[in-house]
Amino acid sequence: MGASDSPPNRSGPRAPRVALDAKDVLAAYRRWAAIYDTAFGKVSAPARRRAVALVNRLPGRRVLEMGVGTGLALPLYAAEKRVVGVDLSGAMLAHARNRVVGRGLANVEALLEMDAEATAFADGSFDIAVAMFVASVVPHPRRLVAEMRRVVVPRGQILFINHFAARSGPRWWAEWALAPASRALGWHPDFAIEALLSAEERARAALTPAPPAGLFTLVQMTND
Ligand SMILES: C[S@@+](CC[C@H](N)C(=O)[O-])C[C@H]1O[C@@H](n2cnc3c(N)ncnc32)[C@H](O)[C@@H]1O
Repeated sequence: MGASDSPPNRSGPRAPRVALDAKDVLAAYRRWAAIYDTAFGKVSAPARRRAVALVNRLPGRRVLEMGVGTGLALPLYAAEKRVVGVDLSGAMLAHARNRVVGRGLANVEALLEMDAEATAFADGSFDIAVAMFVASVVPHPRRLVAEMRRVVVPRGQILFINHFAARSGPRWWAEWALAPASRALGWHPDFAIEALLSAEERARAALTPAPPAGLFTLVQMTND
């Protein structure tokens, strides 16, 4: 969808103004990799901690982290969770691998360069799949959800932490105005939850505002 000059009707289409493809994502995160932790680590830390704390409380040991990035979450997992991380960006994964070695994270079983929308895992390989600040980055968010549902066991848990666009007010305008910069940013400021979850999924997902000041939302869904 191309950028237009005036904001859409609030009840209109909720697709982002600018599309991102895998090439855009790789280019953006090749640039971000060296400065990601400094630029984004602090603002995202409380929400990331909240998501991983929930993962740690959930039953099941096998955890898949989609879009693991530089691995900021990896030291937060409980020792009994066996974690596999995947990411499209080799540049981001290089930092995650250094973190695992540097921190001696024995419960991180693998970090793999892989498309989260189409992984190589067998059905039901994990008890929990979590995607933190990834939903508004992947080219096809609904494929990400479908893949998480496929690789998680029935009754397993699927979690997202993400920024979702406001529906009105100054934040909505700011996000709409920032949207043309999506390719440079490597994410969609105007990403709506409707672009991620179907109406049926939204109806059964638990949505909780997460810090700072509800800027992010924690989404939890039981797999069926
Ligand atoms: C904003 S970063 C989030 C990183 C990490 N989850 C965190 O909490 O900091 C988004 C990550 O998603 C990755 N990503 C984007 N599209 C992807 C895809 N289709 N498959 C796997 N990873 C993807 C990017 O390479 C980047 O590392």
